[in-house]
Amino acid sequence: MTALPNLTSRIKVPIQRNPYEVVIRNQGLKSAGEELIATGIKKGTKCLIVSNPEVAEKYAQTLISSLIESGFDSTILVLEAGEEQKTLEGISQIHDAAVDAKIERGSIMIALGGGVVGDMTGFAAATWLRGISFVQVPTTLLAMVDASVGGKTGVNHSRGKNLIGAFHQPKIVLIDPYTLKSLPDREFRAGMAEVIKYGVIGDKRLFEILENISSLDSLNNLNDNQLKEIIERSVTAKANIVAKDELESGIRAILNYGHTFGHVIENLCGYGNYLHGEAVAIGMLAIGELALIKKNWKKEDAIRQYNLIKKVKLPTRWPDLDLDKVLPVLMGDKKVKDGNLRFIMPKTIGNVEIRDDISKTDIEKFLSRINF
Ligand code: NAD
Ligand code: GLY
Repeated sequence: MTALPNLTSRIKVPIQRNPYEVVIRNQGLKSAGEELIATGIKKGTKCLIVSNPEVAEKYAQTLISSLIESGFDSTILVLEAGEEQKTLEGISQIHDAAVDAKIERGSIMIALGGGVVGDMTGFAAATWLRGISFVQVPTTLLAMVDASVGGKTGVNHSRGKNLIGAFHQPKIVLIDPYTLKSLPDREFRAGMAEVIKYGVIGDKRLFEILENISSLDSLNNLNDNQLKEIIERSVTAKANIVAKDELESGIRAILNYGHTFGHVIENLCGYGNYLHGEAVAIGMLAIGELALIKKNWKKEDAIRQYNLIKKVKLPTRWPDLDLDKVLPVLMGDKKVKDGNLRFIMPKTIGNVEIRDDISKTDIEKFLSRINF
């Protein structure tokens, strides 16, 4: 990998009742304590850090040292990694650790890890003592550009992804791109799926920037400025959408582009067989196909989306799923409104719309012929 850029960007998430900043700083883990003080978190505050083994081994000590230097009192809980851990049982483990560490209303939880750790820690914080503050320190590309920003926290139910959760905004998001150095390429590619999503839903320029990079399947192929621009543009896109509609009563739903079919794949193929970003990539292709059938966008745009996903070396084939199972999972999705499925459907690269007029028959027909 080329040397990482010296990022020091601050992006505001201007949510009315709870604005906060996303700080992007290379080697920023080393100054995490100072950032917390600057945010108004007082010296002496108890911090429960939640992480998982790979991440804790590499980065927890740097974070803890910085917290100690700034006068914080920290304890760490290391949970097993993986989507299968994202359950209410996992939340109980965090709550048990909160009891042991005597985490009080003025204490904070800190998520150090990917989206799984972030979603779980946020939900544990939202439900501990009816809600305490938490901080996101994302260490995967996916968590940096998406999961850590916007306050969606939660866990999976056996019948569906992320069905249990709460909106709970972090106090601050600290992104240290240096931590991506150790991220496996497959995880990097999964994060790129969410980056492509931002391009399709609203940032045409981001999509073009990605198209113009010759190789996108590994962080090693990006130069400093490209990585900086990708993270910044993605976070800015997310921050702006979330600020308009924190609780997803409208426009925020467009962030779920590719997720409706993606969740079906994750659910029916077993969590872990496809990474979240991989399922989203196939989900974007699926809704792209449906959009073609509904004449919602042009073939050339669908091809551009396919080519970009292929360039990242994300999966591009719909898995062999039992069709009788797909519809019930789709209808159990959170995006069902008044019994109708809501799809985020592309119109052009950089523009999507929310459609809730696609009939069950249309979907059945589409699923029975799905062939990509
Ligand atoms: P993840 O949290 O499972 O992390 C992936 C793997 O990478 C784990 O094994 C982890 O230990 C390892 N890892 C993390 N950082 C590392 C690093 N720097 N170096 C080496 N290994 C590292 O996966 P993810 O893709 O980050 O997150 C997926 C989750 O995020 C899903 O549960 C998804 O539902 C959720 N999500 C939430 C939101 C939201 O808005 N809350 C948005 C998108 C996704
Ligand atoms: N990842 C979708 C959202 O935050 O709304």
